[in-house]
Amino acid sequence: MNTDMLIVGGDGDLALRKLYPSLYYLELNNCMPENTRIIGMARTGQTREEFLVKVKEWLKANVAAELFSEEKWESYSQKIFFAQGDATNAESLGKVREEFLGEGNQLVVYLAIPPLIFGKVCNALEGCGLAKETTRLVVEKPLGDSRESFIAINNELARTFPEKQLFRIDHYLGKETVQNLIALRFANDIFEPLWNSRYVDSIQITVSEEVGVGNRWSFYDQTGATRDMVQNHLLQVLCLTCMEPPAVLDADSVRAEKLKVLNSLKMIEGEEVLKDTVRGQYERGVVGGKEVPGYLEEESDKYEIDPNSQTETFVAIKAEIQNWRWSGVPIYLRTGKRLRGRHSEIVVHFKQSKHKIFQENHENHASNRLIIRLQPDEGIRLRVMNKVAGLEPGIPLESGCLNLWFSDKKEIKTHDAYSRLLFDVLRNDQTLFVSAAEVEAAWKWVDTIFAGWKSTGMKAQGYPAGSIGPVAANELLSRDGREWHEIE
Ligand code: BG6
Repeated sequence: MNTDMLIVGGDGDLALRKLYPSLYYLELNNCMPENTRIIGMARTGQTREEFLVKVKEWLKANVAAELFSEEKWESYSQKIFFAQGDATNAESLGKVREEFLGEGNQLVVYLAIPPLIFGKVCNALEGCGLAKETTRLVVEKPLGDSRESFIAINNELARTFPEKQLFRIDHYLGKETVQNLIALRFANDIFEPLWNSRYVDSIQITVSEEVGVGNRWSFYDQTGATRDMVQNHLLQVLCLTCMEPPAVLDADSVRAEKLKVLNSLKMIEGEEVLKDTVRGQYERGVVGGKEVPGYLEEESDKYEIDPNSQTETFVAIKAEIQNWRWSGVPIYLRTGKRLRGRHSEIVVHFKQSKHKIFQENHENHASNRLIIRLQPDEGIRLRVMNKVAGLEPGIPLESGCLNLWFSDKKEIKTHDAYSRLLFDVLRNDQTLFVSAAEVEAAWKWVDTIFAGWKSTGMKAQGYPAGSIGPVAANELLSRDGREWHEIE
């Protein structure tokens, strides 16, 4: 069936920087379903030619030079159209319908606009007959800043579109290595018997970024690392790491298992935030050899910088899933901006036997760890102990690694997270999209932490840009006799 993809906010930053380049990858991989048309809709008047010049420019800036070919651009650009209009107005949308959309075609509407106007666009889609049973609506974060505001936004969408037609993007679910968690866990039977509180000591999930808040200080100051990263990306990674095996690999089963994890998260209430969470804010420092300003010294895009802002650019949380499999296993989450490097990983620390037979080597006898590196160099590594070769008496130990490195940094990727997700929207597969119930449960957990920060007046601690975060983040683990897996 022919498909029309209408991108509302089609001339905006998200569309230009992410969506058109990712759709180009589908063309490049010969995955663009036949007869797909992409219609960028915006208020600003411009001709199709002018619009295509812009799309091409952004594409070349965002796609590796080796992957850009005039021939592919030619076939891709034939599918792209520009529609001027106001998507909150049914009449205006009706004109777009008449001029650009095929009557019997499948329609995908991507809302690359602020959630504030989601409701109006949905009403207008309904008003001009575009909210059909087959229409799919794609939205992405920020979906509110609390459970309450999420519910309000979602009600606006749900009034017009049932859950089956709503695709909520979390771009982490489009990443190869995040999906690989499913393969690693459920296609390798050796892990399953070990994947529980009997054998796992603790789990760490780290997403560290080198970048600062860039040119979006005002947005970020209202958001912070917990809302920007933990509520969505880190909790989704946690779900895939810890969920029960789904009965089948389809959207309903996978989402139901993830939801159970979110609903089993122990609430961190009131004063508990003081011992189980850490808030940090970056100060001036050196990142990648370059001196960079602190968070409060950045240039603001809109509002004046509040010198007393407590917005966290770093957060560390000791979480726990209270269920049969995981109760008692701490799951340490941390993420932050302006840290020493850009990398994301999950580290599963296995327990050690209490009976030690390598007495003289005690301190070298480290526990086994499974390190799942999500980015930038993707791979899996298992830390194992082995004997130091040689004639030294006894069995001296050293640790080594079994490595399964999928790609090195030099490899050019021919698709990205968005292309995978957009492809799934076109195929009508919701498995990698987040359900309303998941988003709501995640907000509920995060809201409780914010309430605790508020009631205790807990402040953000400074950390120098280029470091691994505030000292308190180390104490969060050292109190439990543990330490963060060192970034390799
Ligand atoms: C976005 C956040 O969702 O994810 C950004 O809003 C963050 O602040 C980005 O930088 C990180 O994504 P990635 O894919 O670079 O790890």
